Amino acid sequence: MSEELAKNIHWVGFVDWNVRDFHSFDTWRGATYNSYLIQDEKTAVIDSVKAPYVDYLIKNIASHTALDQVDYVVCNHAEPDHAGGIGELLRYLPNAVLLCNAKCREALTGYFNDTDSWKIQIVANEEIISLGKRKLVFINTPMVHWPESMFTYVPDDELLFSMDAFGQHLATAARFDDEYSLDIILREAKSYYANIVTPYSKQVQAVLSVASNIPIKIIAPSHGLIWRSHVADIVDAYKRWASGEYVRKVLIIYDSMWESTTQIANEILNGVVSVSGNIDVRMFHVRKSSLTEIATEMLDAVGVAIGSSTLNMQVMPQISAVLTYIRGLKFSSKFAAVFGSYGWGAQSIDILDRWVKESGWTLVTEPIKSKFRPTQDQLTAAKNAGSLLAEKAIEKT
Ligand code: FEO
Repeated sequence: MSEELAKNIHWVGFVDWNVRDFHSFDTWRGATYNSYLIQDEKTAVIDSVKAPYVDYLIKNIASHTALDQVDYVVCNHAEPDHAGGIGELLRYLPNAVLLCNAKCREALTGYFNDTDSWKIQIVANEEIISLGKRKLVFINTPMVHWPESMFTYVPDDELLFSMDAFGQHLATAARFDDEYSLDIILREAKSYYANIVTPYSKQVQAVLSVASNIPIKIIAPSHGLIWRSHVADIVDAYKRWASGEYVRKVLIIYDSMWESTTQIANEILNGVVSVSGNIDVRMFHVRKSSLTEIATEMLDAVGVAIGSSTLNMQVMPQISAVLTYIRGLKFSSKFAAVFGSYGWGAQSIDILDRWVKESGWTLVTEPIKSKFRPTQDQLTAAKNAGSLLAEKAIEKT
C-alpha cells in the first residue's frame, strides 16, 4: 500500500500491532506512532516514535534519503509515545535541528537527560520555516492535549500534521481513511477523544476555530489512519464531541456482591426499555467491562445510573475506579440515578449520591437503597428511575 501523502511526503512511522495498554487506555486494536518525512530542498521529519521502535523509524527514513540529508526534526508533542525516540533519532541524523516551541523544550528537558547535546531551534506560534518550495507553519494548540502541543501545517499541500488530535489507536497496514472501515476508524477516534481529549474540549473548540480558517485537504495525525477522503467527517465529529452534544443514550453501570444490586440494575433497564423512542441503553457490569469502553459510551450519553453494593463501608473497588476516571474526564453533565444494596450499612449508595452531586449531575430520583434483597417497592422505584432517565434522553436529543 502507498505511504505517500503528497509528492515527496511519506509516512515513516511504526505500527504497534501488539500493544494492548496505553497508560490504562485499552488498545485492543493496537496502535501506530506516525512519523512523516518531507523531502524538498530541505528535508524534515515530523515527529518521532516510541523509544523501543526508533530503529524502524530510522530504517524507514533511510529507505527514502541519506540520513545526513535530514535538516529538521519537528517535535509537535513531547509525550514519550512520540518524543521517546527523538534522542536516538538525532544521533543518527548528524545535521538535523530539532524544531519545537519553548514549552516543548521544557518538557523534553524534563523527560530526557541528553537534551544538552541536541541542536534545538525554538519556533513561535505561526512562525514559518521554508523547506524550499514548501513551507512549514507552526500553530500552537495548548492543552490539545498537553500545554506544549502544536500542529505543523503545510499550506502548499493543504496538509495538517495534527499530532494526537483526530487520531485513533488502530494498528493496520492501511494508511488512509479510504482504505479501511470508516465506521471502525470513527469508533476508535471517538474512543480516543473520550478517553484522552474530553477534559480539553474548550481548547479543542478554539483549535477547530483556527483550523476552520485554513484550507485542509489532508489531516495526518500522530496515531492511526490519515484523513484524506473523510476530513469533513472527522472535523464534524470533533465539533460534536467538543460541544458535548448528546445522543439518545442511557448507561447502567454497576457492581454487585450477591446480585441484589444486579436485580435493581435489571429493573432500571426494564424502565428504560419501557419508554418508546429508540433509546440506546447499555449495561456495564464494571468487573466485566473496560473503563475505556465505559468512558467512550459516557461521552455523549444523557442518562447514567450507577450502582454498587456496600463493601467494607465503601463502594466496590472497580466502581471506585470508574468514579475516579469519569470525574477526571469532565464529561458533559448527565441525568443520573444511584442505587445499591447493603447488609448493615448503606454507605456505598451515600458515596454515589455525593459523587453525583459533586460532579454537578442531576439526580432524577431519590437514591434506591435495598437492604439484602430489593423489595417490590424498591424494584418499582428502580423501573421508574429507568423511565425517568429515558424521558430525559428523549427530551435532550
Ligand atoms: Fe500520542 Fe499525547 O501522545
